[in-house]
Amino acid sequence: VDLFLDPGAVRPLAGQLYDQLREAIGEGRLRPGDQLTPSRQLAAELSVSRHTVTTAYSRLVAEGFAEGRSGGGSVVAPMPSGSQSASAPGGAGPANALRPARRFRGWAPLYAVPDPPYQFDLSPGQPDPSLFPLASWRRCVTEAVISESLTYGDALGHPGLRRALARWVGRSRSVRASEDTILVTSGAQHAVDLVARVLLEPGDTVAVEDPGYSPVSLLLTALGARVAAVPVDGEGLVVGALPSAARLVYVTPSHQFPLGMTMSMRRRQALLDWAQRHDAAVIEDDYDSEFRYVDRPLEPLQALDGAGRVIYVGSFSKSFSPSVRLGFAVVPPSLAEPLAALRQLIDWHPPAVTQTALGRFIDDGLLDKHLRRTRRAYAERHDLLAEALRGPLSPYLTAGPANAGLHIAAFLRPGLAEDAVRESALSSGIGTMGLQQFYRVMPPQPGLVLGFGAISATALPAAAEALKDVLAVRAGAGHC
Ligand SMILES: Cc1ncc(COP(=O)(O)O)c(C=O)c1O
Repeated sequence: VDLFLDPGAVRPLAGQLYDQLREAIGEGRLRPGDQLTPSRQLAAELSVSRHTVTTAYSRLVAEGFAEGRSGGGSVVAPMPSGSQSASAPGGAGPANALRPARRFRGWAPLYAVPDPPYQFDLSPGQPDPSLFPLASWRRCVTEAVISESLTYGDALGHPGLRRALARWVGRSRSVRASEDTILVTSGAQHAVDLVARVLLEPGDTVAVEDPGYSPVSLLLTALGARVAAVPVDGEGLVVGALPSAARLVYVTPSHQFPLGMTMSMRRRQALLDWAQRHDAAVIEDDYDSEFRYVDRPLEPLQALDGAGRVIYVGSFSKSFSPSVRLGFAVVPPSLAEPLAALRQLIDWHPPAVTQTALGRFIDDGLLDKHLRRTRRAYAERHDLLAEALRGPLSPYLTAGPANAGLHIAAFLRPGLAEDAVRESALSSGIGTMGLQQFYRVMPPQPGLVLGFGAISATALPAAAEALKDVLAVRAGAGHC
């Protein structure tokens, strides 16, 4: 800790020293157990008398901020409760003088990395890092590092990657795209952020699915939009319930998040008609459609849309790795320039090396190869979880549609409380995600969103068995 004493100041030197050490302790720069510099040494360093230092130290000890060690010297004491400095994080003084805007009050990150890791990780949306194609990706990254121009790049994204993406998404999903209509983003969420900013006026209404992917509805709220929750049924978004004021509709047609149904062809057509009649835009979030186990995928809204109202959003967070932070949007030509302009003003573009490497990875057929391999692995895990939900878990959980993606949503049987089940599961080392948090207006249904991406096929039956034991105990507790 740097200490600055001013011999010319009115406050005595011992008082100045006490103030600065007290502040360093309060702010956590000096932590409990840290050794205070021996008084003789500090006096020499600061060119003050030893008495000045011992006076400051004695006061810190007297007030409980430091304690003497039997072998001599002093250490910072564990913080007595209520004694945090006015400037400590969480205190009421200068460090907290600034307040976020009203719409951000009370906000905190939604997700944290579990520490320690779960013994059985059934949290959704996590691809398996052990399936990551390390050797081929390393080769693509090395080549990209060598070939990269090391200058600012194109704000729509690296042209090579955009060409590769346009071909790949056209071939694999029938999405109509060209190099000029692809915007490379740092994931799907970022694509929604950029597109919504460019499309919306402050206070505009945006419709989202209910239940739906809450990180997107929260993001739209943060952007100052009015978020209207529209129910989903077995066919996906209930188009008839859309508010006519909606300027933008956000949907997950391939694999509704969190419930898992596919939007029917009838609903797709109805949504496109609605958007045309109401002069609205549609964001189609196709976050995990690479993994489909049961039937053939339906045509994306973007491919069915003859009117240029759909923005197609894709992500590499499930199909490759969430750590690369890459996704993309296929946008109508009318939005490409403003999006590029906005992107340039924010952070210009994603890291060029990662973009170039991904372009190469796609062009060399390595992504297709990776997807063939991971599809097989996830299909096996999907079948195991679906089987457990039909079998041992069925007295406690009713599974929703399970055709695609990396998770299955399941409703808890009446009488089983979601929080209590999740907490008990956690005590048994099982990480799950609750369903209720994804409802906005519709009555929240207690349930679990169970992921099968992050857990191996070998561990899955044991995880299901452990979850069944937790549920059986909770069900018993409910009857008492
Ligand atoms: C519905 C939905 N959209 C998008 C994403 C992925 O977002 P990103 O590409 O920003 O990681 C997820 C991830 O869980 C998701 O569930």
